[in-house]
Amino acid sequence: MFSSDSVQPLGLSAKARRTGEQPISFLMAAVLADPNLINFAAGLVDPLTLPVGPTRQIVETIFADERRARAALQYDTTLGLASLRRAALAHLENLEQKPTADFGLTERDIVITTGSQQALYLIGDVLIDPGDIVIAANPCYFVYTGTLASLGANVLTVPMTYDGIDVDAIEKLLVKLERENRLDRVKLIYSTTYYQNPTGLTLCAAARPRLLEIARRFSRRNRILILEDAAYRELRYDGPALASIKSLDRDNRYTILTQTFSKPFAPGLKTGYTAMPSELMEAILHQKGNHDFGSPSLTQHIAVEAMASGLYGRHVRLLCDSYRSKRDAMLDSLDKYIPASAGISWTRPAGGLYIWVTLPEGADSSRASALFKRCVENGVLYVPGDYCFQPDENGFVPRNHLRLSFGQVAPNQIGPGIERLAQAIIEVLQQPSRAAVAPVNSRT
Ligand SMILES: Cc1ncc(COP(=O)(O)O)c(C=O)c1O
Repeated sequence: MFSSDSVQPLGLSAKARRTGEQPISFLMAAVLADPNLINFAAGLVDPLTLPVGPTRQIVETIFADERRARAALQYDTTLGLASLRRAALAHLENLEQKPTADFGLTERDIVITTGSQQALYLIGDVLIDPGDIVIAANPCYFVYTGTLASLGANVLTVPMTYDGIDVDAIEKLLVKLERENRLDRVKLIYSTTYYQNPTGLTLCAAARPRLLEIARRFSRRNRILILEDAAYRELRYDGPALASIKSLDRDNRYTILTQTFSKPFAPGLKTGYTAMPSELMEAILHQKGNHDFGSPSLTQHIAVEAMASGLYGRHVRLLCDSYRSKRDAMLDSLDKYIPASAGISWTRPAGGLYIWVTLPEGADSSRASALFKRCVENGVLYVPGDYCFQPDENGFVPRNHLRLSFGQVAPNQIGPGIERLAQAIIEVLQQPSRAAVAPVNSRT
């Protein structure tokens, strides 16, 4: 007989115990509780520009062809639809403005995944044993640092600069790790090289070959791979179209490039593609075989038809126009509502979805702060910047940053939202009791 008090605890694995809830979940709950909140927190894309018409057209085209429709409703391979891998390769060639053969890539080096997030996960899964080192920027895409934590990685950080991840600091860190005989534990250098989440900043052209050279030079017994996350690459509003680090890696040895259809087309497809060294691919496919033995065929067929028909390219242009004006509206409103004398600065990204605001040192934007509370009362939401940081060696996490996204908010809500945010910031900063920053040891 069972009674409720005889129920034993679950025998969760060490990995499950290392895996926490993604910190952003509570922000989603706040929006659901009050739909009138102006939500600069969500990293979602703009609902108004989702490609409803083009996707309807694409699905009709696919289903008008009986043979193709059957293929779209059938399983495909673990590696992914061959026509989509060919299209992705041609697309990369176009983005890099040079033949993919120049950097040793063939369609066999491209895997289709369930969003680029699955690729990021699988890469960590096949490379990281607990205690292995991943070098990442501080601040960083917090979903991935959560993934790395669940794998037991030791994430060592270097600062973000206005030119992207601090490559000099990476070199210094590797020199130090070599001195300490820990180089063999370094598996990955993770960087969002275009319009980073959360800062909107891009790795500059000069730093790209230098980072590759550093990864090559410090690869001794183990190869150190650069994981180049290019999720926002195609959302470019101004500035040059930079070549990826991958395109500089002549023999396809040191770089993994992840890209996605989520940001430039539709996250509902949850389809991404990743180019990687051939030797890594085998291990990735074994793990992906365990996950799902292939991403959904239907969305892969939609993606390939979007590219072949030209609808993808047209949609990216439309999105860039729309997001450019939303970015400008957000920057103009920040200029308008935040006085220059307030000691507050923010990034001016050339693409992507995010603006990173820095308050004076000592200010507190964390979830428990007076500022966050005041903003919710004022009807506006942001991501507290401390979620995006790993603690430094003293356990310190800066709390004076905010991530704002202009992705999901309607254009006419940006001005009113920034006005509410600015009012809250100024009001809270003027309070005499502004608390000094306390070191924290965990993201609570
Ligand atoms: C930097 C970065 N990389 C990867 C992803 C994963 O996106 P997806 O799995 O939809 O391709 C995201 C999503 O927000 C992101 O911000």
